[in-house]
Amino acid sequence: MVENGKSRKVVVVGAGAVGSTFAYALAQRGLAEEIVLIDANHDLAEAQALDLAHGAPYYPSTQIRAGEKEDYADARVIVITAGTKQAPGESRLALLKRNSGIIESIVDEITGEGSHAILLVTSNPVDVLTDVALKRSGWTKGRVIGSGTVLDSARFRYLLSQHCGVDVSNVHAYILGEHGDSEFPAWSMTNVAGVSIDDYCPLCNKCKNWQAEREKIVRTVKESAYHIINYKGATYFAIGMALVRIVGAILQDQRSVLPVSTLLEGEYGLQDVCLGVPSVIGQGGVSEIVEAPLSPNEIEALRNSARILQSALKELKE
Ligand SMILES: NC(=O)c1ccc[n+]([C@@H]2O[C@H](COP(=O)([O-])OP(=O)(O)OC[C@H]3O[C@@H](n4cnc5c(N)ncnc54)[C@H](O)[C@@H]3O)[C@@H](O)[C@H]2O)c1
Repeated sequence: MVENGKSRKVVVVGAGAVGSTFAYALAQRGLAEEIVLIDANHDLAEAQALDLAHGAPYYPSTQIRAGEKEDYADARVIVITAGTKQAPGESRLALLKRNSGIIESIVDEITGEGSHAILLVTSNPVDVLTDVALKRSGWTKGRVIGSGTVLDSARFRYLLSQHCGVDVSNVHAYILGEHGDSEFPAWSMTNVAGVSIDDYCPLCNKCKNWQAEREKIVRTVKESAYHIINYKGATYFAIGMALVRIVGAILQDQRSVLPVSTLLEGEYGLQDVCLGVPSVIGQGGVSEIVEAPLSPNEIEALRNSARILQSALKELKE
């Protein structure tokens, strides 16, 4: 089916834990007319697609199948979740180089097919790989985005809602910067039902020391992935939902504000780095970056993330 002259075909590159969970969540929402799985391990893509397709009687009409690079040509959104894990004894830089090579080869195939899609990178380190994909594609910056801190912000909102005892949909909060250790909470943008968190905490009066509680929440957000990976080897349910949120904003031209990873060109005083900042997302990808009036500490934290990411990109080029 074509909506507003545009197809609703979503191609997922990488049919592992994240790619297949995203496909499962997307199928249940009925947002895509067709979901195509591509993986270097074609048998895996076939098996995942079959397993998903067998649920057809129980979710809205969506065709699900394994595909080939030719599927990039008429895709509306391409989500890259392909990557390899750190081998024993392998350095972080060696892993980065390997995953960067994987992303470049996938992007070459996508551009080789003359695709007009929006490209959404999820593979880690997501901010660096978004930059790699953007430069390799030669596409305009709004069309190549990373999942950024959308997942981290969901974790943050969930923990705040649990702490405050209110519906998560009443909690507006963002984790910004690198999807990684230097990410930070934008407390200046945090509100509960429109009441800034600084005004809400004294009103709510549930905890004795809300400053300490806030630090604990942020620590938990940052440690979430490590904690889950320690116990079950990977995280995939919440990132699957976060990807559906981003892809839904594109397919339905929602103009949602989400902290995806996007190229900064002077915004927040930063140049030539992709990181998670609030961005308006619709059918063309990112159309605007929202330059929020962050506090001086938050601006410094954003700059710190930028420095870390720029030095990783420099290492990659050496
Ligand atoms: N950005 C986020 O918030 C976030 C959250 C969770 C996971 N991730 C990242 O997502 C990525 C995928 O994680 P996973 O748990 O699904 O891993 P996984 O190992 O289960 O799946 C990765 C898949 O990529 C495939 N692949 C490798 N090279 C390929 C290529 N050149 N072309 C096509 N497919 C290729 C592999 O065969 C494998 O099936 C990782 O980089 C992980 O760190 C990101």
